[in-house]
Amino acid sequence: MTSRYSRIVGTGSYLPGDPVGNDELARRLAERGIETSDQWIVERTGIRQRHIADPDVTCSQLGTAAAREALAAAGLNPGDIDLIIVATSTPDWVFPSTACLIQKALGHPGGAAFDVQAVCSGFVYALSIADSMIRTGAARRALVIGAEVFSRILDWNDRGTCVLFGDGAGAVVLSASDEPGILASRLHADGSQEGILRTPGHVSRGVVDGHPFLTMDGQAVFKLAVTVLESVAREVVQAAGLQMSDVDWFIPHQANVRIMQATGRRLRLPNDKVVVTVDRHANTSAASVPLALDVAIRDGRVRAGDHVLMEGVGGGFTWGAVLARM
Ligand code: UT7
Repeated sequence: MTSRYSRIVGTGSYLPGDPVGNDELARRLAERGIETSDQWIVERTGIRQRHIADPDVTCSQLGTAAAREALAAAGLNPGDIDLIIVATSTPDWVFPSTACLIQKALGHPGGAAFDVQAVCSGFVYALSIADSMIRTGAARRALVIGAEVFSRILDWNDRGTCVLFGDGAGAVVLSASDEPGILASRLHADGSQEGILRTPGHVSRGVVDGHPFLTMDGQAVFKLAVTVLESVAREVVQAAGLQMSDVDWFIPHQANVRIMQATGRRLRLPNDKVVVTVDRHANTSAASVPLALDVAIRDGRVRAGDHVLMEGVGGGFTWGAVLARM
């Protein structure tokens, strides 16, 4: 018999090394002749620091560390997991998937493992897929991981993007349950907008073909993000049969505090319900939402029974939302 619902039963996260503050980053960029400042970065984005993985640290290592912490929080072992989904745009390799490498590191083969590529919406995409698979009975306990080493795809000569991103990983354990759980999720994409945020390169005949670094039209992304984050929030809350006032915590993708606050204002969600970690983590793409969720659970803000609205938005163009009762 299949359970009707899935529930988040544990969370974990991992950030590589010591944080790099804006002043330190500005010093490093100045050595390349690139001018920026703590003041510009904080005023335009709210970012104060980010973590940058050492060159030999891989996406799967970050994801494995976050997964181990989520399993410990859930009181489960790797052998209890029959599905691993990793959201990432910075996998270790072209293949095998980062999910397979994490499964190997955790030491329990046999379950399904695959990656999801939806850039900064990747975690909500992955969570929605895992929820569907659990509700159909295809899996019982899933690790859903967002892990990124975005520092590897940044053009460190482009001050308009390189100050915005960081590395890290977050994970949740999603378990079959008779009680909800994930109440609703909604996913969207508009491929016609692929040009505003992309890394338009790939490996072909053994060499990188195209441009291997992230490019972004920041203002176009900003405007679209605020619009779609509002609409998909309303959609998912309605799908769950709730009101916006029932939302206890809003955890949007952590790209820019101005986007988060503008979205919160449009939804009439006060700032003290918005979980903000972009100041500490910068934009960690698919890792940003599970990282923020883990922070808010561990510091005691998010408690059992709370309604948590998680949202992703990013390259593709993609966006989506998941509403969960914790
Ligand atoms: O995860 C995917 C989702 N991504 C996002 O959500 C990002 C969305 N976009 C944004 O967050 C903002 O558009 C940015 C933070 C990227 C940029 O903020 P903005 O207020 O839109 O600034 P801008 O791009 O219009 O640039 C304003 C000025 C320009 O100088 P001029 O032309 O006015 O002289 C830039 O050259 O700021 C300059 N600038 C910088 N100055 C110092 C751009 N980057 C920097 C920098 N330091 N790092």
